[in-house]
Amino acid sequence: MGKRITFHDHKPKTLSLQQAVIEGFSKERKSIPPKFFYDERGSALFAAICDQPEYYPPDVEQAMLTRLAQEIADLTGTGRVIFEPGAGSTAKIRLLLEALRPLAYVPMDISCEFLKQAAADLVDEFPWLPVHATCVDFTHSLPIPETAPPGRRLAFFPGSSIGNFSPQAACEFLTLVHQQIGPDGLLLIGVDTKKDPDILHAAYNDAAGVTAAFNLNLLHRIRNETDVECNPENFDHQAFYNPEQGRIEMHLVSRCRQTLRLNGYRFELAEGETVHTENSYKYTPQEFLAQASRAGLREVRHWVAEQDLFALYLLAGA
Ligand code: AVJ
Repeated sequence: MGKRITFHDHKPKTLSLQQAVIEGFSKERKSIPPKFFYDERGSALFAAICDQPEYYPPDVEQAMLTRLAQEIADLTGTGRVIFEPGAGSTAKIRLLLEALRPLAYVPMDISCEFLKQAAADLVDEFPWLPVHATCVDFTHSLPIPETAPPGRRLAFFPGSSIGNFSPQAACEFLTLVHQQIGPDGLLLIGVDTKKDPDILHAAYNDAAGVTAAFNLNLLHRIRNETDVECNPENFDHQAFYNPEQGRIEMHLVSRCRQTLRLNGYRFELAEGETVHTENSYKYTPQEFLAQASRAGLREVRHWVAEQDLFALYLLAGA
């Protein structure tokens, strides 16, 4: 069978790091949205995080997907059109493809070159699978390309990527997913659980320093892609669990008093002041199912990993 792959670029030209820096550094509490982690180097660093022993979610989730593939397929049926926001390396869908036998697969990612490579590798490995790779900022839209066939849809959103959204934004995103899958659609979503803060702390402070490099990569991007002159050496990685908010927070901590200049702007950072780069919300199953129902999604089934380390939810559009 011939290889079937199409590529679609929906990346808004307005996705400007410089604009995000101006907006984020002008706030009382400085911040940059986490989607800017994922340039090509950032995507590769994230893949390396997933290989760190302390970062348990990929291993736990992949074991669940492997073990549950047939059970999931029995609930979803085969022949669906699967789309995956933030597909990255596409490692996880591979575990389900033989059981789910989709009509087509639509990986969506903000990192275009990384996505192209992953999609090309995927069709090599699964020559029967039509792939419609879509480069898009999924926080804005989830465009299913017109080249994709009609058919019942299954959204796949593993890895606890939902944790990057505030609870309010998560509800809005789930509502958007609900619209895209329709009443006969399904969502299979992996969500990290609340657990011993020591386990969480270790997961975001790996001994090899890969998460630190991933966080600091933002500064390399700012230095290389904007008019800001900044020295990544003047910042430290910080990640901690915030129990009140139920989330891991990542920050870049200024090691000294410094001024960052950009065109007419001057951004002052005190020693110890931070730039907030990521939230990673953790949900108990009860909390997450309540969240899903606010978006009109009802539970078909959910599964919790050993020691409550991670959870998978199969949700239906109606
Ligand atoms: C891709 C958002 C799920 O929050 O665990 C990993 C990103 N950041 N280590 C997460 C991340 C630092 C990851 N998500």
